[in-house]
Amino acid sequence: MSDAMTQSIWMATTPTTHFKALDKNIHVDVAIVGGGIAGLTAAVLLKKSGKTVAVLDKNHIAGGETGFTTAHITDVLDVRFQDLISKFGENQARLAAESIRFSRAQIEELITEFAIECDYQQLPAFLYCNIEHEDFEFLRKEAAAARSLGISAEIVSEAPLPFRTGAAIRFENQAQFHPRRYLLPLAKWINSNGSHIFEETSAEEFHDGTPCRVHTKNGIVTAHDVIVAAYSPVCNWAFLHTKLPAYRTYAIGAKLKSRAAVEGLFYDTVDPYHYIRSQPDGRNGQILIVGGEDHKTGTVENTDECFERLEEYTREHFDMESIVYRWSGQILEPLDGLAYIGKNSMSEHIYVATGFSGTGMTFGTLSGMILSDLIVRGQNRWAELYDATRFHPLASAGHFISENMSFPTHFVGDRFGKTAESLEEVHMGEGKWVKVEGKKVAVYRDMDGNLHGCEPECTHMGCLVKWNSAEKSWDCPCHGSRFDPDGKVVNGPAITDLKKVELRQPAQH
Ligand SMILES: Cc1cc2nc3c(=O)[nH]c(=O)nc-3n(C[C@H](O)[C@H](O)[C@H](O)COP(=O)(O)OP(=O)(O)OC[C@H]3O[C@@H](n4cnc5c(N)ncnc54)[C@H](O)[C@@H]3O)c2cc1C
Ligand code: FES
Repeated sequence: MSDAMTQSIWMATTPTTHFKALDKNIHVDVAIVGGGIAGLTAAVLLKKSGKTVAVLDKNHIAGGETGFTTAHITDVLDVRFQDLISKFGENQARLAAESIRFSRAQIEELITEFAIECDYQQLPAFLYCNIEHEDFEFLRKEAAAARSLGISAEIVSEAPLPFRTGAAIRFENQAQFHPRRYLLPLAKWINSNGSHIFEETSAEEFHDGTPCRVHTKNGIVTAHDVIVAAYSPVCNWAFLHTKLPAYRTYAIGAKLKSRAAVEGLFYDTVDPYHYIRSQPDGRNGQILIVGGEDHKTGTVENTDECFERLEEYTREHFDMESIVYRWSGQILEPLDGLAYIGKNSMSEHIYVATGFSGTGMTFGTLSGMILSDLIVRGQNRWAELYDATRFHPLASAGHFISENMSFPTHFVGDRFGKTAESLEEVHMGEGKWVKVEGKKVAVYRDMDGNLHGCEPECTHMGCLVKWNSAEKSWDCPCHGSRFDPDGKVVNGPAITDLKKVELRQPAQH
């Protein structure tokens, strides 16, 4: 992340990793781009099957969205079970439920096998109505749909939270963990015996073939297969991105006055919803984690207000003492509710794993399972369901049209957006479009008064990036690319940095 103001509990409570960068050409069986939960799970499973792997991460492993998650390991997908059944049919939806159950079991298996201490805990999850908006009929149908898919779900009169709620669905055998404490020991194990982890190594070009090649600045990785688990499928310029609207979501970690923790994973049914859990603080206490306030990336001007609203919500509902952590991250929502996992379109040996919505712990793990099976055995029982090239008109058309209408709206409409006339209008800590010598420039003034200028045209498809005040980044409203104040890519699909613009202006004090 580009900004020191936000910090997740996971990043703050684990050491920074220091794997070396790639500095020569190498050959492995499988090159994996991205060292989040998806890439690292694939790497472990492939190595266990006898393959050599190289994981390339442009920053540090487990420091992308996986380092900024809230790590509920849950059956409660962002798509409702009733919708899943109507979109995919009961048989396929049952297969989806089964795959999620197996991915949780896979996490447990790796924790046991590698004796990982990561605060893993089994607990129930609750999907609850707020007291003022109880919709019993919805809960009844949703619980019945879940049960028809083999998920243990029963209606209870309220959720066990320290404030009154309406009725809820209780899901048994869900889980939570510390995602970095889970992944860092696995990464250490991956990096030996002919397999590697390379950090600060950005994959810049992908060539499908026999063999495939992944180009980085200081070396080429030659491999039989390539997995792109870079969160955003950076090897796929257009097709997948039309199916992957990007959202921002926010979380805070709060100390409570009482030491009591919430016992479970909680989701309300408002839109956008709140998600709640607690995490041991390592000193016999608990940190309450509350998330929510989702919005489409690049569409909210003052993103600090999202944190303020979340804090207000937490103060209203819990005996909050103080905020200890706050962080935000990106969610890629698949159009039909299930992740895209499988061969990249028109590729023989390049695979993608993306579109995990708010359940990337399970979908990320599942990606590792499906892709390692496809590479090692040529098959997996869930592969067809998650096929990354799928487009089910019945399940996706409505969303596809409404989401992709926003591309021309932003591409054309934003060019007429408000632009400051002079650099003086950009105050310390602010980012704005400014007209400089007749051209629009994305300008940020840091807290020392220095100006940072970039061309505002996103290097993916040219929409104009907008300022994100909470993360101090330039975010693209079209497909969610993000750039730091100097234009360096934070999130794809963009691979290339924004062009820098030198600004001459005395610093403001
Ligand atoms: C606030 C928040 C709360 C969430 N809560 C939950 C939850 O409770 N439960 C749940 O299941 N999911 C949750 N999610 C979603 C989940 O965190 C993500 O879906 C998941 O972490 C994504 O994992 P990943 O491996 O796909 O991506 P990442 O963890 O982002 O890993 C991708 C990696 O690829 C690297 N990379 C990118 N481009 C390149 C390139 N060109 N070359 C080399 N490397 C590259 C990045 O540096 C990054 O490290 C939440 C997300 C957020 C933001
Ligand atoms: S992310 Fe596609 S145009 Fe910016």
